[in-house]
Amino acid sequence: MQAVERPKCKHGNVYPSLLFHTVDACPGKGSSSAVRLNPLLQQLPTYPTVVLDRLRDQLRAEGKPVYDFGTGDPTEPTPAFIREAFLASVPENCRYPTVRGDVSVREAFAAYVQRRFGLSLDPERQILPTSGSKELIFHLPLLVIDPAAPDRTIVFPDPGYSVYYRGAVLCGAEPYAQRLSGDFKQRVWELPEEVLRRTRLVWINSPHNPSGAVLSRDDLQRTYEVCRRYDILLASDECYADVWFDKPPPSILEIATEGVLAIFSLSKRSGMTGYRTGMVAGDATLMAKLHQLRTNPGLAPQDFVNAAATAAWSDDTHADTRRHIFARKREILMAFLEEAGIEVVGSEAGFYLWLRVPPGKGTGAEWAQELLSVGILSNPGAAFAVTDAADNYIRLALVPDEAGCKAAVDAWRRHQR
Ligand SMILES: Cc1ncc(COP(=O)(O)O)c(C=O)c1O
Repeated sequence: MQAVERPKCKHGNVYPSLLFHTVDACPGKGSSSAVRLNPLLQQLPTYPTVVLDRLRDQLRAEGKPVYDFGTGDPTEPTPAFIREAFLASVPENCRYPTVRGDVSVREAFAAYVQRRFGLSLDPERQILPTSGSKELIFHLPLLVIDPAAPDRTIVFPDPGYSVYYRGAVLCGAEPYAQRLSGDFKQRVWELPEEVLRRTRLVWINSPHNPSGAVLSRDDLQRTYEVCRRYDILLASDECYADVWFDKPPPSILEIATEGVLAIFSLSKRSGMTGYRTGMVAGDATLMAKLHQLRTNPGLAPQDFVNAAATAAWSDDTHADTRRHIFARKREILMAFLEEAGIEVVGSEAGFYLWLRVPPGKGTGAEWAQELLSVGILSNPGAAFAVTDAADNYIRLALVPDEAGCKAAVDAWRRHQR
């Protein structure tokens, strides 16, 4: 396994192979600012959701139907009791929030972890609320990376959630894309020793975006052992922990907390993407340092968001209901994909279906473009990859409601004929 050389744009600059995104991603474009910009910014392509929003708006402006399987932003309403908890906590005088937030949100999360994984966490020392998991993922490298040191590698799954790469680049780390294929499981123990020796942070993500692959308890154990052997921070992104279909995926916290931080989110579990609320939990010593780090920019979720999060973490029924809604939509799509002979890879859990491009349909970007002609908005696999690992895949997010899924399937079926 090696880091694959990234392609170059027509100006000779390097950028990830995000085929939908090449025009904006080209660092040579629009760089006539009077101010000298951070050159690291040039390594970042346009964020995938920006591209998808633009495509969706374009189709709508042309009066065409849009079946939006693009951005993973659920349309099911946030449960009323969560909205009420939020509204009831907006105070007359809204003062600065603290990085730790009120203990009630940490206690509610600790109780959730006890119910879900059978584990005891200390709300005082092992848990912090975040403003969504994205910001934590972006900032976490600052905890372990010295940009002047030779050992400053961050390993992340490729394809994967693009913020692992973006956060690594902007903090001056050396990003190392661990190329996934086949079942799309990340096997950290297969990394070359020379990479592990210079690595300070390993990202894993189970259930995995975009493939829906799940790491077993054994996989997590092996991953943990490798990270401990090389004194690496193991960061486990578990933001889809409660979006599963057959059996609940295990957490890294079930293996150990030493040297480990696990990241959770209410975005999909509770339909709270707009609230920006997540949690980070794990090693108490690391958490103390993380707390200290987060006081510098003041990364502190608002108290009324924490109040809504307290309500959400305290209840599992709504998460169950949402899981069944996602499962129903998944069944509708899976039945059609099977009938059409389209291969679905991974997709054991999480919010996505990961489709291999059928023979004769070109790359994922070309197939996604073709599907767009019938109003089906998907994400080409390349949007999640720094290497070419996902060029022949597309991702469907389980976003449209049941009727929307059925209408999309009908449109797709007519197009197939
Ligand atoms: C793997 C993964 N991690 C983190 C996030 C960020 O989630 P949020 O910031 O909404 O908690 C996402 C969002 O889609 C994701 O797919």
